[in-house]
Amino acid sequence: EIKRRWLAFFESKDHVVVPSASLISEDPSLLFTVAGMVPFIPYMTGLVPAPYGRATSVQKCVRTLDIEEVGKTTRHGTFFQMNGNFSFGDYFKKEAIAYAWEFLTKSQDEGGLGLPKERLWVTVFKDDDESISIWREVSDIPLQRIQKRGMKDNYWSTGQPGPAGPCSEIYYDRGPEYGRDGGPIADEERYLEVWNLVFMQFERGAGSGKSDFPILGELPAKNIDTGLGLERMAAILQGVDNIYEIDTTKIILDRAVDLTGIKLYVRVKSSGGSCTAVDTSSGANNLTASISCPTGINEVDANISGLNVQPNPMTNGAVINFNTAKAAMYTLRVTDITGKEVLFKEIEARTGENKIAMERNNLTAGIYFVQLNDGKFSVTKKFT
Ligand code: ALA
Repeated sequence: EIKRRWLAFFESKDHVVVPSASLISEDPSLLFTVAGMVPFIPYMTGLVPAPYGRATSVQKCVRTLDIEEVGKTTRHGTFFQMNGNFSFGDYFKKEAIAYAWEFLTKSQDEGGLGLPKERLWVTVFKDDDESISIWREVSDIPLQRIQKRGMKDNYWSTGQPGPAGPCSEIYYDRGPEYGRDGGPIADEERYLEVWNLVFMQFERGAGSGKSDFPILGELPAKNIDTGLGLERMAAILQGVDNIYEIDTTKIILDRAVDLTGIKLYVRVKSSGGSCTAVDTSSGANNLTASISCPTGINEVDANISGLNVQPNPMTNGAVINFNTAKAAMYTLRVTDITGKEVLFKEIEARTGENKIAMERNNLTAGIYFVQLNDGKFSVTKKFT
């Protein structure tokens, strides 16, 4: 439905609808298609004349640049789809910004996504006052919700030599339960980036990372390259915390649950935010457990059959708590992300609450998996 609305909206603005290209990039410098713009690079560099001035697509992507974020946040996936609109020397900043605002805020009855305007925030490249003026002119976003950022966040390229340019990003405020006040510069878990508008105007040379490369000159024309994360928008519109629980992904997780017999729903909460205990489903033995995280370690709140997280940022050591309806022998195993065991204990649990303290020295910031097993019933929990 999001794809359909997207393509219909941009088709109504005279964009040619282009099907997704292969996930394996035809560009010899890129293994995967990392963004919606990849198939259009030759039109932006002027290598091939663009067959149309405006295009729109929903492109399958693997984001190699952000691959290290996968599993640490609620918003990065190994695979995702990018809704894009593109201009090849046709329109530029003003139309791109106006289209984005219109599509996001227009009511669903009128073909938009119907997002509440007061939830939207915007960032622009630090030198780009022109974009701030355009935002003020074509939308009703207040100045206080427009923030400036540097190369790392608001200058975009594929990570390879080729088209590059400053960008303006649109964020959705998920509310104080997801993190700190202060806009995207303060907290990107709370303020979820949903759409990037890139003003593709320059050519970059070889370099590393997101900001260490030379600008070689201007592209033959001023282009527009935008990308809206389909799964992120689905999470917002479907009212789920993360991209793993949207309808198209959850059916895959549900099938994995059927096949393995392990029930697994993962919810990542931002660091520093208070975390409400999730109601546990009753396991075979009515086991519940919670983990208090050391200061400086972000909690990951997972709701896995019979296991709960109650973060306590004031506690310096990790404490694993669990409740059992009956006394039983358990094994408790904690592994780090590489699978290395950092704790293994046999515990004679009593009825009611049990607490297992982990040495502070055993933990550095990172991702851990906790497994409790009474021989019949096992629960696994991830925390960072
Ligand atoms: N090409 C831009 C991005 O992928 C839109 O973020």
